[in-house]
Amino acid sequence: MQKQVKSKRRVAEHGEVFTNEREVNAMLDLVKQETERIESRFLEPACGNGNFLAEVLRRKLKVVDARYGKSQSEWERYAVIAVSSIYGVDILEDNALECRDRLFQIFDEQYTRLFRGDCNDACRRSIRFIFERNILWGDALDFTNPVSKQPIVFSEWSPVNGSMIKRRDFMFKFLVQKTFQTSLFNDEGDPATIDEPVKDYPLVHFLELGEDVASEL
Ligand SMILES: C[S@@+](CC[C@H](N)C(=O)[O-])C[C@H]1O[C@@H](n2cnc3c(N)ncnc32)[C@H](O)[C@@H]1O
Repeated sequence: MQKQVKSKRRVAEHGEVFTNEREVNAMLDLVKQETERIESRFLEPACGNGNFLAEVLRRKLKVVDARYGKSQSEWERYAVIAVSSIYGVDILEDNALECRDRLFQIFDEQYTRLFRGDCNDACRRSIRFIFERNILWGDALDFTNPVSKQPIVFSEWSPVNGSMIKRRDFMFKFLVQKTFQTSLFNDEGDPATIDEPVKDYPLVHFLELGEDVASEL
């Protein structure tokens, strides 16, 4: 069983008490249908090391296995959709990093178990890249990174024509607080609408995500 407390100090300073598996499952069962929908979006704004997100990923991948386990390329495509709709933020950097790693391991164990020597490292790279973009170190109360104070920016990943992915980046604070809207400006210098991305990327094949990390992160 996972430890629920890392240290007294972290509990006092950040309220860090991890939820145990039984409660995680009971809570996720309240929205069971959504947890089993491959493209359903989940955002956990205080994700810790990912207890909820890990279970959401397991449930989604189970559906991907059942529906697409017989075709590696279909399995990979739907696994990318499952992964790209899971988001998390934590104010402690080690939690965010642990969470990313843990989610990647869940994906990779399943991928390797199913396709063994045929696994494709490009698929692993795409998945890692998505987790790097989706699981962020940040303060969910002021919507910034606690050290750099840069705004938290999330990426939306939309499948297009089967194998292509459209990425659009949005400011977290605009996604949750309409009152911030007037301070956002678009490329023409006009006030932007709430759903306007801060950055729009060209279409990319789902196995080519993260190929050029320096310009994409
Ligand atoms: C009670 S723990 C829950 C962790 C995880 N959701 C779980 O259920 O196992 C609360 C988490 O919130 C994080 N946290 C505290 N304040 C935060 C903030 N302002 N923004 C983002 N995360 C925060 C802590 O670091 C901790 O990981």
